[in-house]
Amino acid sequence: MPKLMSILSGRVQELIDRYTKIYMERTGRSRELFERARKVLPGGTTYQIRYFTPYPTYVTRASGVKVWDIDGNEYVDYWMGHGTHILGHSPDFVVKAVNETAYGGTHLGYPNTLEVEYAELLTKVIPNVEMVRFSNSGTEANMYAVRLARAYTGRRYVVKMEGGWHGGYDGLHVGVNPPFEGPPRVSGFLPSTLSTRSWSHSMT
Ligand SMILES: Cc1ncc(COP(=O)(O)O)c(C=O)c1O
Repeated sequence: MPKLMSILSGRVQELIDRYTKIYMERTGRSRELFERARKVLPGGTTYQIRYFTPYPTYVTRASGVKVWDIDGNEYVDYWMGHGTHILGHSPDFVVKAVNETAYGGTHLGYPNTLEVEYAELLTKVIPNVEMVRFSNSGTEANMYAVRLARAYTGRRYVVKMEGGWHGGYDGLHVGVNPPFEGPPRVSGFLPSTLSTRSWSHSMT
């Protein structure tokens, strides 16, 4: 078995090397932009999960199921804005509605009519949704969900799957990359937050 594993990992490394070489041959302008980006953006991106080695691809345009990078390469996009674009990139009717709505104000800062209509729609189309609280990101939504659950149940612990990613909220950021959880991955975390990790680990 160890011999088979070593043959397999050798083969995997061979494939990684081959495709990394092809990738680098096709993405020279992304490489250049990465060198600029890493001076002003940590890791050269605005979100750590968008970074990958040797450097990420910088996209200039998206439409339907496709995206194009700065080198002119065309890709079928299986990422779809982290799963947001269930209708594909920029369908005409969405672009039209966004444009028309933006002329009426972009960030109103007051309770507004559209948020009520949208919340009503969501409660109609999603089973079991009775009320809605909008948030700006998955991180924020999960943070509120954990707080609400703790407030409602009076309990402290939250169970999460090891290896699961639920955003940057400290309480759910533990166990994301087991067993590689030392600094700097968890630098800045309170010891009390990290102590929950061994508890969850012992349940597996
Ligand atoms: C399952 C899951 N939860 C939470 C998040 C975090 O969402 P956001 O990036 O909007 O903070 C993500 C992001 O990819 C996710 O996939």
